[in-house]
Amino acid sequence: MKILRPAALIALLVFASCKNKNQDQQTRETETVSIQTDEDFRPSFHFSPKEHWMNDPNGMFYLNGTYHLFFQYYPDGNKWGPMHWGHATSKDMITWEEQEIALFPDEKGYIFSGSAVVDHDNTSGFGDGTTPPVIAMFTYHDPKGADEGRIDYQSQAIAYSLDEGKTWTKYDANPVIENPELQDFRDPKMIWDEENKQWLMVLSARDRAYFYTSANLKDWKKVSEFGENYAAQDGVWECPDFFPMKVENSDETKWVLIQSTNPGGYNGGSATQYFVGDWDGKNFTPEADLYGKNIDHPYWLDFGKDNYAGVTWSNVPKEDGRTLFMGWMSNWLYAQEVPTETWRSAMTIARELQLKKENDRYIISSTPVKELEKYVGEIITKWKLTDDDHAIIDKKELDLTKAQVSFLIPKITKDVHLTLSNESGDQFEFGFKKKENEFYIDRSKSGITDFGREFASTVSTGRRIATSDSLKVNLILDNMSIEIFYDDGKTVMTETFFPKQPYTSLKINEGVPVIDIEANEFNFD
Ligand code: FRU
Repeated sequence: MKILRPAALIALLVFASCKNKNQDQQTRETETVSIQTDEDFRPSFHFSPKEHWMNDPNGMFYLNGTYHLFFQYYPDGNKWGPMHWGHATSKDMITWEEQEIALFPDEKGYIFSGSAVVDHDNTSGFGDGTTPPVIAMFTYHDPKGADEGRIDYQSQAIAYSLDEGKTWTKYDANPVIENPELQDFRDPKMIWDEENKQWLMVLSARDRAYFYTSANLKDWKKVSEFGENYAAQDGVWECPDFFPMKVENSDETKWVLIQSTNPGGYNGGSATQYFVGDWDGKNFTPEADLYGKNIDHPYWLDFGKDNYAGVTWSNVPKEDGRTLFMGWMSNWLYAQEVPTETWRSAMTIARELQLKKENDRYIISSTPVKELEKYVGEIITKWKLTDDDHAIIDKKELDLTKAQVSFLIPKITKDVHLTLSNESGDQFEFGFKKKENEFYIDRSKSGITDFGREFASTVSTGRRIATSDSLKVNLILDNMSIEIFYDDGKTVMTETFFPKQPYTSLKINEGVPVIDIEANEFNFD
């Protein structure tokens, strides 16, 4: 595939009206503004590949102080193509170092999404007695089979690494799970099931999840299925994850199934739902009647348009105990058209998931990992008051392209509208609609939006899960993204934007009281 050159800086003529002159005399002056491109949009603290195309996070594991992130990668173009596993490492899940490509496609097919586990007891026998082998399972997608119109072209295969994820050897008896005559059969996610002393794997099979168990990571047995007719069913289920979680402030443990779907997301296109229930070593039983058989259920990990295919890290030490998650910050509706040419796509900030029980309901909350706090710069605690708007932060106080802003609205008495804007007149709007009890994002005027019809055409909404009168808001801002954590992460909205100039101001509508403000610019030097 042809590699596109960085787009040349495009000059945009804007007519700026001069406020100080009276209306009649107002002269229209022209000034030249360059539209931001590739490197301007590159996130400062979200992982993006140096160049070329990336989608789902894969094979995430932690070992000896290093977090590994693999990802769907096409190194020869800026759109999806024959898939490899790219690789990046980090000490804190915030700053990343890209590594050599880990897995290349071969005669059996492309290397689709999957997972990795550390085999401490060498159950696989791949170990050499020095370091524990790391075993990856991925889906082989055979493009020839797909071209020939067959349906059995996806199967599961493994590879192992004896140098902590640097280099990989594919198992010579691949595939380890043959295709059962099913067109969408992919994205295996493995975990060690401590209670039942077995390896456990979940994968997506069109409109449901299949569960498998194994003693040695090579021989797998299907033990059950879950999901037929559950929740969102307008698309294909992809990239599942399945793990136990302690319910906050209790001794109860529940199992959580994360399940991405594309299309069929809450706001169309790609999105990720979750189910909470019990696992007996063979079957997953969800909480009774929790999940309506339609898209309108509240169990979405993120209600924004740009958090997809996210999964959790394996082998996080027991003493740490956190459930650590990261997603792909894009949406198949327009991912291949976003206005960056040399590189495409970024990951979300790493998040800690927590399981809460409220009003007899299990809810997953997500918040940025605490490692981000290390980069917090000087904190400002006041917003300026202006004549027309209640509060404003502008670039004199804070560079909003790498910032965190949090505040509390002590009592919601009316709709809340927040606006990020710049001198080119771009506006990214978001907030809360009181009557509807719903959060919204409107990015129709946010900057460059004409690359994909679906990017700006609809307002995205997100259900408020919390029931309190007050509203807590935490915003994480990077060059091309906002991650909005409401109510301590009970409702989350993640979206990307491509403003012609960086946003320089953040405003709240008049009459909305705001307290406990803390805003800071991140410092990555
Ligand atoms: C999800 C997905 C996976 C698949 C991969 C291919 O975004 O479609 O189901 O393994 O991307 O790149």
